[in-house]
Amino acid sequence: MDFKKIGDAEISRRDLMLGAGKVAIGAAGIAALSSGGFGLIRNAEAKEGSTEKWPWPYVKLDPDKTAELAYNEWYRVFCGAAVISSVFTQLREKIGEPYKSFPIDSFVFLEGGMAGWGTVCGSNAGANVVSNVIIGPRIAGPDCEHGHSVGSDMMDWYSNTALPIFTPKEPKQKTAIIQTTANSPLCHVSVGKWMKKSGFALGSAERKDRCARVAASVAHKLVVDLNAWKDGKFEPKSSWTPGKSVGITGQQNCNECHGSNIPTPPMAKK
Ligand code: HEC
Repeated sequence: MDFKKIGDAEISRRDLMLGAGKVAIGAAGIAALSSGGFGLIRNAEAKEGSTEKWPWPYVKLDPDKTAELAYNEWYRVFCGAAVISSVFTQLREKIGEPYKSFPIDSFVFLEGGMAGWGTVCGSNAGANVVSNVIIGPRIAGPDCEHGHSVGSDMMDWYSNTALPIFTPKEPKQKTAIIQTTANSPLCHVSVGKWMKKSGFALGSAERKDRCARVAASVAHKLVVDLNAWKDGKFEPKSSWTPGKSVGITGQQNCNECHGSNIPTPPMAKK
C-alpha cells in the first residue's frame, strides 16, 4: 500500500460531519460486533461529554497473512506503523469505519525506538496501540484490562524470545538472519545485541531485514492473542506491576542495567 491509497480511503470532511450524529462505525462493523462488543463501547463512552468511542470492533485475522503484511509494510513505514498497518488495513476491509479514519501512517514516528531515541521498540509500541484500540484501557473495567495485558505480555514475550522467529515467503535479504534475545523491550538494547552478535551495522540491509522480521514476528503473536481474546480464551501470562511491587516503572530484570547494585526507589510519601 502506498500513501495515495490511504488518501483515497480517507473520508471527506463532509462525510465526517454527516457521520457525527450516527454511531461512528459502519454497518459491517455493527454486524461484526458481538453483544460483548457493545458492552465494551458503552464502558468507554461512560465519560460524560466525551465524543470518543472505543474500543473498536474486531474480527479474527490470519496470523501468517498479518505477519507477511507487517514484513512488507516495514519497508514503507518502519516497525511501529507496520504492526499497526498489518492489523488495521485488514480491519479497514473487513469492518470499514472507524478503521478507515485511523491515521496509521502517522505512527511512522515510532521508528528507531521513537524518533530514533532507542526507547521502546516500535513493534511493541505498535502492538500496544492495536491491543488498546481493540480491547480498551485497563481503567475501563475487567474486560478491558486484557488490552493492557495483551500489550504487557507482548513486552514480556519480546524480551524473552530469540527474535526474529518469522521468515517471510520472499525475503528481501537472502543472507541468514541470526536470532538474539534482547532481555528488554527497548529498541536500543534489542538492536544493539543483534548488531553485536551478527556483526552487521545499523545501516546494513541485514539489520533492516532483521527489524522487518521482528515487526512481523510481533504482528503474528499479536493476532494470535487477539484471536484468543475474541474467543474468550486469552490468558495473560505476565503480571508485572513494577509501580506497585518495586516503586518504580521498569522492566523486570533490574540487574540487566544496574548489575548487582540495584538502587531502591524512595517509597510513596503519604
Ligand atoms: C534498561 C536499563 C534499566 C533497567 C532494566 C532498570 N533500570 Fe533503573 N535506571 C536505569 C538508568 C540508566 C538510571 C539512571 C542512572 C542511574 O541512576 O543509574 C536508572 C535509575 C534508577 C533509579 C533512580 C536513580 C537511583 O540511582 O536511585 C532507581 C530507583 C532505579 N533505577 C531502580 C530500578 C529498578 C528497581 C529496576 C528493576 C525493576 C530498574 N531500575 C531497572 C536503567 C535501568
